[in-house]
Amino acid sequence: MKKIELAENVYWVGAVDWVTRDFHGYSINGTTYNAYLIIDEKITLIDTVKRPYTSELLHRIRNIIDPAKIDYLVVNHVEMDHSGALPEIIEAIKPEKVFCSKMGHKALLQHFHQPDWPYHVVTPGEEVSLGKRTLSFLETRMLHWPDSMFTYLKEDEILFTSDAFGEHLATSERFDDEVNQDVLMHEATKYYANILTLYSPLVKKLLAKVQEMQLPIKMLAPDHGVVWRSNPGKIIEAYSRWCVHQGNGKALVIYDTMWESTKMMAKAIAEGLHEQGIEYKLLDLQVNHRSDVMTDVLESSAVVLGSSTLNNGMLPRMADFLMYMRGLRPTNKIGACFGSYGWSGEAVKMMNETLKEMNIILCHEGLKVQYVPEHAQLGTCVELGRTVGKTLKAFLAGEKVESVI
Ligand code: FEO
Repeated sequence: MKKIELAENVYWVGAVDWVTRDFHGYSINGTTYNAYLIIDEKITLIDTVKRPYTSELLHRIRNIIDPAKIDYLVVNHVEMDHSGALPEIIEAIKPEKVFCSKMGHKALLQHFHQPDWPYHVVTPGEEVSLGKRTLSFLETRMLHWPDSMFTYLKEDEILFTSDAFGEHLATSERFDDEVNQDVLMHEATKYYANILTLYSPLVKKLLAKVQEMQLPIKMLAPDHGVVWRSNPGKIIEAYSRWCVHQGNGKALVIYDTMWESTKMMAKAIAEGLHEQGIEYKLLDLQVNHRSDVMTDVLESSAVVLGSSTLNNGMLPRMADFLMYMRGLRPTNKIGACFGSYGWSGEAVKMMNETLKEMNIILCHEGLKVQYVPEHAQLGTCVELGRTVGKTLKAFLAGEKVESVI
């Protein structure tokens, strides 16, 4: 088994999951659960793996050292994909100390009900000597759980960042310079969009804090995906854009349709956007997974939502998507809603209300068409597309734009 070394005596000992396709509603093509082993006077394991991968973690550790020789265990994050292996690992290594944040301590007790584990609750900035090396801890509460923290290996300038700066990416390679850059950045965008969008204000504060601390960072070592050893600046720069929800000037028309009428409206709206010179993408929820749509939403500047009315509400796929998007709270966007109906037509009002609640700027009161749109009604849809396009251009030019409802 090849030893994977980040720096002298600092190893990756995690596991690659080639199987998982659904990560609590986020569609993935596998992932990794990263754990790191530092060989020093105090041998230290940073994070563990999801429970089914415990033996893989132990094999990788054994490839370097007898697990029983590990002295310290650092728990940067208690979510089960990183802590599921803890009971077995603690039993195997009997660590002298388990380092965690104050909230991590609480969460560990509530997950594993083991008051006798040798917890050491760290204070932010606290330093722990391993011998030749030093660890320090950075509290990152709510990034993305209350317990989350980063661990910094001072002498090697490696920041172990828990879930932050990760990707759900299963590959044979472990470093950023070993994988296709387009695939890497797509997966990093998708990860941010689906995990971190809601916590963007905290990401912004964290980036400012790290800059203020002038922490030299040679590598970012997250708990998922690759280690950023060649170009950590690339992902930091992307996070600085994503955390302010900086749009790319493009519009999305996201819809679900019952008998194709809402789809006809969507295509006409797209024509209006095109006339205004706005690049757009049509995303039919019947064929696009919510997490892929959310990835596009993160970087878009306008979202136009369409749903037919079904049983006095919106179609279930739109309800699913809107609930998901509302939870993640993307901001800094223009919006509008549309849809066909038979006799009541509540879907547009309901979508409008949700976008308004999310502080998306509605540039139109909403457009409904009864049953099947005829030519003139499709013209009204084109006009809606033009309105979104014109409003978006004004918004991108920095003009003050307010919701019309
Ligand atoms: Fe990868 Fe929040 O766990």
